[in-house]
Amino acid sequence: VIAFFAPKVLAGQKVLITAGPTFEAIDPVRGITNLSSGKMGFAIARAAREAGADVTLVAGPVHLPTPRGVRRLDVKSAQNMLEAVEGQAQGATLFIATAAVADWRVASQSTEKIKKDGSGQPPALNFVENPDILARVAQSPRAQSGALYCVGFAAESHDLLAHATAKRLRKGVPLLVGNIGPATFGQDDNALLLVDEQGHRELPHASKRALAQQLVAEIARRLPR
Ligand code: CTP
Ligand code: CA
Repeated sequence: VIAFFAPKVLAGQKVLITAGPTFEAIDPVRGITNLSSGKMGFAIARAAREAGADVTLVAGPVHLPTPRGVRRLDVKSAQNMLEAVEGQAQGATLFIATAAVADWRVASQSTEKIKKDGSGQPPALNFVENPDILARVAQSPRAQSGALYCVGFAAESHDLLAHATAKRLRKGVPLLVGNIGPATFGQDDNALLLVDEQGHRELPHASKRALAQQLVAEIARRLPR
């Protein structure tokens, strides 16, 4: 679909998207992250913009150009991402959480580089769970009232339909989108499983760009009017 001819199915919508991994520092030179490339989230941001939406993209550390016309906020950690999202969620009408948020961070970051102490023993790192950004937004009054439609993503290694169905209910979101594996991280194509209250349907294997356009159309059909 050429952008100029794309139907403006999201005209008037204010869309907030998270994308990419987060980076959780251990000390000034090390941290924990994951293999999310951000490609799917950036493709959705582009497709949403081309569909007429006002789009804000909150991105973890990725190596991708900002889609034309999209407002981008770069963040590092899950806590940074939560702050950015909470700062932008007020006016949003659609929230799409594609980010692969690190589930844990170290309980206390070291301000200095952790050195080997000569004992041969590794340092003991304690972890705490990160805030669940999607669940928090989905529980907000605006989401609960239907003013803010929330979409979650899930990458599972097995039993995608069962996990995606359970995750949709646990997160309290109307639509949960599963990546039909294996390992779509960093690739240019994908296949998606859409799970909502009605049931599920598959968007078959295609480029992330084409899938993003189809997903935008699927979401637009589900928005309250
Ligand atoms: N998510 C989020 N904040 C987190 C963890 C996840 O916003 N701290 C969002 C992701 O962006 C995604 C959805 O929640 O849209 C599901 O993420 P996933 O990692 O699959 O789910 P978890 O609840 O973290 O469960 P688990 O990793 O144990 O499967
Ligand atoms: Ca997780």
